[in-house]
Amino acid sequence: MNSIEKNKLPKHIAVILDGNGRWAQLRNLPRSEGHRKGGENLKRFIDDILELQIPYISLYAFSTENWKRPKTEIHSLWKLMLEFFAKYLEECIEKKICIKISGDITKLPKSNQEIINEAINKTKKNKHLYVNFCINYGSQQEIINAINQILEIKINQFQQTGQIKKINKKEFEKYLYTYPLPPVDLLIRPGGEYRISNFLLWQCAYAELYFTKTLWPDFSKEDLYNALEWYSKRERRFGGLLSIK
Ligand code: IPE
Ligand code: IPE
Ligand code: MG
Repeated sequence: MNSIEKNKLPKHIAVILDGNGRWAQLRNLPRSEGHRKGGENLKRFIDDILELQIPYISLYAFSTENWKRPKTEIHSLWKLMLEFFAKYLEECIEKKICIKISGDITKLPKSNQEIINEAINKTKKNKHLYVNFCINYGSQQEIINAINQILEIKINQFQQTGQIKKINKKEFEKYLYTYPLPPVDLLIRPGGEYRISNFLLWQCAYAELYFTKTLWPDFSKEDLYNALEWYSKRERRFGGLLSIK
């Protein structure tokens, strides 16, 4: 594995953890086995990220659209998530990881909400790596949620002052679940689909998009390095011009 220049590494990587079900089906295993294996791979992936000293990762674990799945699968996902946090919370604390959640977790089983809140509270002062778990997350819902919060504030403002002060991009971003994380530099989607599936639409405005057929449970350190090497060769222009050499 080649080493990549540190200044060419992304600051914020987002990953769509896709392909667990197919991984299991290919082995004649129940889909839940794929999710379990995906969880194990996630733990390994976080260690790779720590080693690389990348400061922010966002992980798409359950979308607002995933409620369309059979109840049994959803139930197994909550069970695995509970086990994941119970098993690794202490290690996250030791490794100075800050756990953040994006999404509406009030729709999750009580025990999941409790362990997530415990994880947030016990890691909130950590600064080594921000791990943003996107759970019951949908980007469109996130934006509507932000607008509704702003509406409420603006109605109050109008009632008190008779005026409404317009907001700008920076102020708007304060109402997104992901605040105060920086924009996504690199979005990785394993599993072979070439779509965003309602993930971080605002935050990925200028992200580099990396798609691979590898299913998430098989996504290895080598796959990560391949993605990073590809990323290091991108010329990010942000609407400007190519740098003159
Ligand atoms: C992603 O894997 C995990 C979740 C959506 C929770 P999938 O379950 O979508 O796996 P595939 O796409 O069916 O293989
Ligand atoms: C995206 O995967 C959501 C997560 C990985 C949590 P899906 O499997 O739900 O996406 P689609 O349905 O293929 O777009
Ligand atoms: Mg999928």
